[in-house]
Amino acid sequence: MPFNTELTRALGIKVPIVQGGMQWVGYAELASAVSNAGGLGILTALTQPTPEDLRNEIRRCRKMTKNPFGVNLTLLPALVPPDYAAYAQVIIDEGINIVETAGNSPGPVIKQLKAVGTTILHKCTTIRHAQSAIKLGVDFLSIDGFECAGHVGEHDITNFILLSRARQSLGVPFIASGGFADGQGLAAALALGACGINMGTRFMCTVEAPIHKNIKQAIVDAQETDTELVLRRWRNTSRLFANKVAKEAVQIEKTSSSGKFEEVAPYVSGKRGRQVFLNGDPDFGVWTAGQVIGLIHDIPTCEELVSRIEREAVDSLQQSQSLFVGDGETPVSGTGTVGKNTNNPQAEVWGVGKSKL
Ligand SMILES: Cc1cc2nc3c(=O)[nH]c(=O)nc-3n(C[C@H](O)[C@H](O)[C@H](O)COP(=O)(O)O)c2cc1C
Repeated sequence: MPFNTELTRALGIKVPIVQGGMQWVGYAELASAVSNAGGLGILTALTQPTPEDLRNEIRRCRKMTKNPFGVNLTLLPALVPPDYAAYAQVIIDEGINIVETAGNSPGPVIKQLKAVGTTILHKCTTIRHAQSAIKLGVDFLSIDGFECAGHVGEHDITNFILLSRARQSLGVPFIASGGFADGQGLAAALALGACGINMGTRFMCTVEAPIHKNIKQAIVDAQETDTELVLRRWRNTSRLFANKVAKEAVQIEKTSSSGKFEEVAPYVSGKRGRQVFLNGDPDFGVWTAGQVIGLIHDIPTCEELVSRIEREAVDSLQQSQSLFVGDGETPVSGTGTVGKNTNNPQAEVWGVGKSKL
């Protein structure tokens, strides 16, 4: 059953699920599989060493799917920043009309992309940043709660608060990001006012994600408690998988008397993190994962995952009808619970069946 939300209408997708940009994971194999499944797949621009490589990746992805897909452009502080304008120009030249932006000072890039009518989903972890992005003309906010993988921000506000704050105060459509893995989560996000969800970690753990199977298995084996917040001392907090290296980095961060970043730098090296995905050794370097690892128990194809989430969300929304009865009607025992994987026949008996949903 195709969904009908502001997100599905604006992006031309069937299921309101976005696969967020993921460094060293967001290649054409994954993005095209998500788009073919009815969601929005996203290539990660900076996973490509140069803008020309991004051009080739976009062309490769286009051969793998006829459906819409987007590109993530993440602007992070760096001693020698990438040529963001050149990456954005390739995105424009290649006819990509959906971009996920994230990170600091996105103004110039958003201006460049909006000038040609690109639809922008901007990811942020605070309402204040969301309001600044609205002034820049973004079309959707992607509200990333404290549960999320990667850059969680410095305020530690979880999605229960952030999403309702977004609904109360933004006036621009938003999607919920961080902590989502199933259709019950999608239904909850829609109930809180979001028009879709964004998932990162859950999509890492799919057949098509181009990372070593050992890392997918490490996610399946992990609990929600198995993440670490690293680099808080330098106000650049990242949620990472709690492996040996991440724990050592946190230990140094907490005990160092000098507080010099150089002391932890070798532990949080992006180069070693990238190798983890290739060599399959979960302790080789640090790698990004969200608390949602506790909800991930299998490695499905993107098609299986997206259609499962779609089915669960529809079931969950339909079953929620059993949580209330009409005036004068008697509650029937055994009902009044959402979360079973069946539709609710009792809702039909009460006359609040599917036709009215
Ligand atoms: C391995 C990995 C790499 C990521 N890299 C980026 C990135 O380069 N840029 C970005 O905006 N978000 C990045 N993210 C964050 C995701 O796009 C998404 O916002 C986040 O994963 C949502 O939380 P979840 O993992 O609980 O679904 C990354 C996430 C993961 C798991």
